[in-house]
Amino acid sequence: MLIKTPPGWKISENEVTPEEIYVNRRALLKTAGLSALGLAVTQTVPEAWAKEEIKKLNFKRNDLYKVTDKNRPFTKEELSTHYNNFYEFSLDKGEVSKKVMSWKLETPWKIEVQGLKGPDKTFDVDSITKLAGELEERIYRFRCVEGWSMVVPWLGFPLSDLIKKLEPSPKAKFIKFQTFSDTKIGSNMKNLPYYPWPYTESLTMEEAMNPLSFIATGMYGHDLPKQNGAPIRLVVPWKYGFKSIKSIVKIEFVEQRPVGLWEKLASEEYGFYANVNPHVDHPRWSQATERVLDGKFFPTKIPTLMYNGYEKEVAHLYKGLDLKKNF
Ligand code: MTE
Repeated sequence: MLIKTPPGWKISENEVTPEEIYVNRRALLKTAGLSALGLAVTQTVPEAWAKEEIKKLNFKRNDLYKVTDKNRPFTKEELSTHYNNFYEFSLDKGEVSKKVMSWKLETPWKIEVQGLKGPDKTFDVDSITKLAGELEERIYRFRCVEGWSMVVPWLGFPLSDLIKKLEPSPKAKFIKFQTFSDTKIGSNMKNLPYYPWPYTESLTMEEAMNPLSFIATGMYGHDLPKQNGAPIRLVVPWKYGFKSIKSIVKIEFVEQRPVGLWEKLASEEYGFYANVNPHVDHPRWSQATERVLDGKFFPTKIPTLMYNGYEKEVAHLYKGLDLKKNF
């Protein structure tokens, strides 16, 4: 993200799965074989995609959250699961889904929680999901600070539901998330020794309690593939994608504003707020437009929307804030 410009995507439009059938992907795979989905896809990403052990989940779609804009097509699963930023594994977006193959997800996956009214707690993914409530599906726009974007059906629960159940200390002003820091899992961390690992990100409590803030445990009707942040990640759709931290192992409620990995590395490029804003450019490129992750060699360019199209829902959080300074 710091240095690289994404290459053109090589998978063409007719080689990928339409929205209507994504939920039936597993069944489709069994009955029709991979060739029905486009051999080119399987040639570029054969094993990573076919071997991923993913479980279909029960969920209801929350129709309050969908994307109806004509120029924002639903992103095909093959694309969003094979063009990934997960620096712990690789800087190459096409490599991440291959590099995660050897990662055996720790079961049960533990999440430590600190900064509560009561004592610290440790949950596993299932118990934290149950605590929050039922799984729901939401279709969100997702805009990376690098200038590419997608539209993804996430499965999970509102972060606010979890926070209410966790009962943070009344002193808490921020919520901080942390990814695993085991270099045996994310071997690329050793190649980037000057990065302030582990990956951390945070939100103000007001942002975290906004109904849009979401904890995802799945996408496209099944649990999260490892490359997309299994087994549990954050999704904050009005902020640049780097805020949406993957593979969470720790949640802390804190008084002081934490400084995340990207802000530590380059605060003049990756600010704390990281709200999608077409009027505030990245120092090295414009943020006025974005490239749709559509598989075309020359991806479709569309205008970027203020707060990624979620202005009504979140603009009130930033009233009176100078958005040029607080980017
Ligand atoms: N979380 C961790 N732990 N490591 C990362 O490198 N990359 C971020 C974010 N979360 C990242 C991360 C960035 S820059 C983006 S754009 C999104 O994950 C990409 O999510 P995706 O691969 O599911 O599209």
